[in-house]
Amino acid sequence: MYNLLKGKKGIIFGALDEKSIAWKIAERAHEEGATFVLTNAPVAMRMGAIKELAKKTGSEIIPADATSIEDLEILINKSMKILGGKLDFILHSIGMSVNVRKGNHYTEQNYKFTEKGWDISAVSFHKVMNVLYRQDAMNKWGSIVALTYMAAQRVFPDYNDMADNKAYLESIARSFGYFFGVEKKVRVNTISQSPTPTTAGSGVKGFEGFFNYAEKMSPLGNATALECADYTITLFSDLTKKVTLQNLFHDGGFSNMGVSQSIIESFSAKS
Ligand SMILES: NC(=O)c1ccc[n+]([C@@H]2O[C@H](COP(=O)([O-])OP(=O)(O)OC[C@H]3O[C@@H](n4cnc5c(N)ncnc54)[C@H](O)[C@@H]3O)[C@@H](O)[C@H]2O)c1
Repeated sequence: MYNLLKGKKGIIFGALDEKSIAWKIAERAHEEGATFVLTNAPVAMRMGAIKELAKKTGSEIIPADATSIEDLEILINKSMKILGGKLDFILHSIGMSVNVRKGNHYTEQNYKFTEKGWDISAVSFHKVMNVLYRQDAMNKWGSIVALTYMAAQRVFPDYNDMADNKAYLESIARSFGYFFGVEKKVRVNTISQSPTPTTAGSGVKGFEGFFNYAEKMSPLGNATALECADYTITLFSDLTKKVTLQNLFHDGGFSNMGVSQSIIESFSAKS
């Protein structure tokens, strides 16, 4: 390990179980010397796995619904007290579509569900930054990262309304990132990660198909959750101080591919 986050303090949203990308990021942040508070929606607490992670990383858990400004105010206030000062890094690793869960087709959404998914998956990022900004909770040269997926730019039919939520999330990173940069010298970025077999990921219809397709298309293969954690650590570290307002693809090269030899072969007539 490199002690890249020695002395740094943060909040990690979204570790549900050991498959979660946030779980791996918490483990890696701990290894790199960071201290942090773990948070998740109160309903996620019932599953109990997060307690294991807290024990392993010496962290406290504060439940918070990321769509509730009141919960976020308590979370951020308490976290600064527990950690003994302002924060250096924030991970937003939250996503949920009710339409996907209920199996509604993209063309036939229930708009109440659309709104809820949008609030949880996208607007919550604005709310988190709003409270951090108002409470002046971030240290200078701090780093805020949210996780996203390339369906924000390209069509993946079964990604459903999450594609729209991710486009909105990425836009919030740029818009809020401007003000956070100018006023507080804090950077805001999104990481666009390869398909990853987690609870949220596997909930998308046809996940296995597009996971395997991306694997064959990407020159380096799909990026794993652990590799995403490594990349996120660099963005929390002082080695990336001037990177902001970016949507950073962490996908083994998938996003710049047209077609790969392996895909061509699978469509060519056998000679
Ligand atoms: N798995 C993939 O293929 C993939 C690819 C690219 C990006 N992502 C993104 O990575 C992030 C993490 O997802 P994951 O794949 O680790 O799955 P995950 O299911 O482990 O994590 C999603 C988290 O969101 C939390 N959450 C839901 N509603 C919430 C609320 N109201 N308040 C607070 N937290 C809430 C869940 O409890 C859970 O911990 C998401 O933004 C997801 O869209 C995932």
